[in-house]
Amino acid sequence: MNLRIASRSVLVAVLSGTALVQGQQSQDPYAPTYTECPSDLTIRAASEGLSRRETLWKDARSEAVLNSMETYLNNANITGLDVGEYVQRLNTSTVPVVGLAISGGGTQSGIGGLGIWQAFDGRHPASVRAGTGGLGQILYYLTGLSGGGAVTVAILAANDFSTTEHILRTTNFSIDYETGPTGNDTEYFENIFQTVGSKAEQNFPVSVADVFGQWWGVWLPENATFMSWSHVARRGTAFESGQAPMPIVVLAEVIPGTSPEIGGLMYPGRNSTNGFDLTSYEVTPFKFGSWLGGRIQAFFPTEWLGTAVNNGTVQNRSECVQGFDQIGFIQGSTANAFTAYLIDDFYNIPVFAKRSLQGALETRQSDTGDVRIPPGQEDNPFVQLVGQVASVFNQTFNESLWATYPNPFENYNEAMEGVDELLLLDGSLTGETDPIRPLIVPDRDVDLIIVYEASSDAAYNWVNGTNLINSAQSAHEGNIPFPEIPDVQTIVGLGLNRQPTFFGCNASAGTPLVLYLPNSPWSAYANFTFYKSSFTDTQINATLGNAFELATYGQEEEWSACLACAAVNASLARVEMEIPDQCTQCFNMHCWNGKTIQDEVTSAAFDLKLRLQSDVSYREWNESIWNNQSAQVSTGGSSGTEDSSNDDTGASSTTFASQGTMGLVTVLTMMAMGFSLL
Ligand SMILES: *[C@@H]1O[C@H](CO)[C@@H](O)[C@H](O)[C@H]1NC(C)=O
Ligand SMILES: *[C@@H]1O[C@H](CO)[C@@H](O)[C@H](O)[C@H]1NC(C)=O
Ligand SMILES: *[C@@H]1O[C@H](CO)[C@@H](O)[C@H](O)[C@H]1NC(C)=O
Ligand SMILES: *[C@@H]1O[C@H](CO)[C@@H](O)[C@H](O)[C@H]1NC(C)=O
Ligand SMILES: *[C@@H]1O[C@H](CO)[C@@H](O)[C@H](O)[C@H]1NC(C)=O
Ligand SMILES: *[C@@H]1O[C@H](CO)[C@@H](O)[C@H](O)[C@H]1NC(C)=O
Ligand SMILES: *[C@@H]1O[C@H](CO)[C@@H](O)[C@H](O)[C@H]1NC(C)=O
Ligand SMILES: *[C@@H]1O[C@H](CO)[C@@H](O)[C@H](O)[C@H]1NC(C)=O
Ligand SMILES: *[C@@H]1O[C@H](CO)[C@@H](O)[C@H](O)[C@H]1NC(C)=O
Ligand SMILES: *[C@@H]1O[C@H](CO)[C@@H](O)[C@H](O)[C@H]1NC(C)=O
Ligand SMILES: *[C@@H]1O[C@H](CO)[C@@H](O)[C@H](O)[C@H]1NC(C)=O
Ligand SMILES: *[C@@H]1O[C@H](CO)[C@@H](O)[C@H](O)[C@H]1NC(C)=O
Repeated sequence: MNLRIASRSVLVAVLSGTALVQGQQSQDPYAPTYTECPSDLTIRAASEGLSRRETLWKDARSEAVLNSMETYLNNANITGLDVGEYVQRLNTSTVPVVGLAISGGGTQSGIGGLGIWQAFDGRHPASVRAGTGGLGQILYYLTGLSGGGAVTVAILAANDFSTTEHILRTTNFSIDYETGPTGNDTEYFENIFQTVGSKAEQNFPVSVADVFGQWWGVWLPENATFMSWSHVARRGTAFESGQAPMPIVVLAEVIPGTSPEIGGLMYPGRNSTNGFDLTSYEVTPFKFGSWLGGRIQAFFPTEWLGTAVNNGTVQNRSECVQGFDQIGFIQGSTANAFTAYLIDDFYNIPVFAKRSLQGALETRQSDTGDVRIPPGQEDNPFVQLVGQVASVFNQTFNESLWATYPNPFENYNEAMEGVDELLLLDGSLTGETDPIRPLIVPDRDVDLIIVYEASSDAAYNWVNGTNLINSAQSAHEGNIPFPEIPDVQTIVGLGLNRQPTFFGCNASAGTPLVLYLPNSPWSAYANFTFYKSSFTDTQINATLGNAFELATYGQEEEWSACLACAAVNASLARVEMEIPDQCTQCFNMHCWNGKTIQDEVTSAAFDLKLRLQSDVSYREWNESIWNNQSAQVSTGGSSGTEDSSNDDTGASSTTFASQGTMGLVTVLTMMAMGFSLL
């Protein structure tokens, strides 16, 4: 905390300088403000269960879900289910509870997640025709992390859970988040640093996560750029009135002195036994904290994050903080994977689930020293960006890496003794890029967990099941019921990474059913790099369309019934109704049946073709569709027979990372010249 005080004077100097340049005052809407404390501001132990506000919200949501159930089920068309009778028997304690998890994976998962939302949305005609539309209207929870949090969940929450179609009309995804709306990246970065500086000027710690968060903000509605996460629950929103699911973003942490590190770069350090104990933070519009597992197991109101609290007592009742929970900061926090990028770039060691760390590389405890930048890496754009944050805000490189939260749980328990700040980062760095943890909380009673994963963790940027396996492992460590998930050989060998599959159909009561929707090529090769920072309309449509085909099983006729069967399965037992034969057949057909495969997995297994157009190669498709600005593509609803005529544009790959990072270097160089802060 002395860091902040030490750096304050330089910040004031720096920022009044820029304020002069910009002709602006420093009351930036990003800066948190101090106010009188509410009388009931307390920490709530996870053992006390759902908070009062979540319980009230859940009642409101249950009403809305009950009202939507009949329309959804009639349209889903389960043969042998008396929908009228079922709906009549339902009440708020027997109604099915369904949650949707959108994985990490940058814009690949983030835009794909908007496609999944559309495919389940009863307001989207093509989804209604496919029989899957209406599932979104009965969802209770929508979780996301990294790209799934910063793009899918944040954009939906900021748009009051409108339709994807509406979001496409009001959001310009051709704006590159690395260069900003006008394309003048100097101006863009100056504004961002000034915005972030306004928070530092109020004595709050800032980091690259604050800067990064502002990038994602370019795709938020203009009047929501500086809203707070708790504001999603303001009176009259779709969420507040129970008309939308609860948005939840998931974060991980590093702990100085405890987390392993490589060259001074800390990372959470999942291994085969500690997954459940790596604290999984969740942020809802109501609360911030963690459930069982890890070192907190308690919650603090999201609205009052930033407030100095000691052992549950606010330090100064005149200095409660509001606006620390900026949507951009939550976006930047959940997407903050800089430590992983740097470890990967410096040492060629990927810290995501992908190619997990080998024993030989398991490392020393972190010390107080700073990060070591290997020779030749000074120009690495990530080094430049984090270094710029460090120099502008007069802090170390290490301090500039983490989404830094004044710790509301300081001295709340033994593990929190003397811990004045939480250092948070991308939830996927615990090896669980599927944000499942909030959905297995026993108090939430989730019956069906739908997992859309576009993590790029396998060869060719597809997926192989590792993250789902890790989630199952963590649940098992915590004695939380979760279906058995087979190993990677089986998942890949049986093709379960290429089509929707249920897990847990024969598990004991109380175990949620899991539906895995792995990103795979149905109508589009939606395996572009997760760095991709802008999209043409054609590319957006193709990505949404592919998610639509995945979620509707290529619009297979009986799939809508199978999906609905999964939603109501546990609830049917609660109201003592028989499982229709069609549901039994669905589960026989679409559930992993316990069979295992031992064959070695090679990258050739991921050289996938378009399932609905197997004659169109990756190269041809890139030329005729992806890189062809005039190609018309459906966001979903056509049968995947887009004209693939070959107009040779010469462009044939989707490598965007180098372009993006070059842009960043330029920007930083320009900044260093025109924005002299040191
Ligand atoms: C930067 O911070 C250090 C301590 O962390 C302090 O000694 C130094 O005076 C600060 N520099 C400026 C220009 O304020
Ligand atoms: C409902 O399902 C039945 C049998 O599965 C099928 O014959 C019928 O066409 C479906 N109805 C609609 C409206 O899709
Ligand atoms: C979207 O942004 C791009 C890039 O900044 C710009 O060229 C285009 O005109 C914008 N489109 C609309 C409809 O505003
Ligand atoms: C970009 O913005 C910078 C800083 O605001 C300004 O000095 C420069 O003239 C702008 N460049 C262009 C091409 O407009
Ligand atoms: C933004 O404006 C829209 C339309 O007026 C409104 O419905 C919405 O609540 C506003 N959002 C915020 C965060 O104020
Ligand atoms: C996993 O990491 C924990 C620390 O988080 C350590 O105590 C434990 O020994 C490690 N287990 C294995 C199998 O490496
Ligand atoms: C509490 O905060 C108020 C308002 O910032 C300040 O005037 C007062 O001195 C503070 N009290 C203590 C004991 O620090
Ligand atoms: C599956 O993917 C993970 C994550 O990328 C990787 O570590 C693992 O080696 C892969 N497994 C196989 C059998 O290919
Ligand atoms: C926190 O407060 C409780 C009583 O409210 C006390 O028992 C406990 O020792 C305190 N913990 C610390 C670390 O000060
Ligand atoms: C809901 O219905 C079940 C039986 O279907 C019944 O046991 C339970 O008491 C009802 N709960 C409420 C809150 O009405
Ligand atoms: C996408 O997948 C195809 C095979 O399915 C592969 O040929 C291509 O290289 C992949 N693209 C990227 C960017 O990984
Ligand atoms: C994208 O999809 C929308 C909605 O289906 C459609 O109106 C638009 O023409 C499509 N654009 C392209 C470029 O395919």
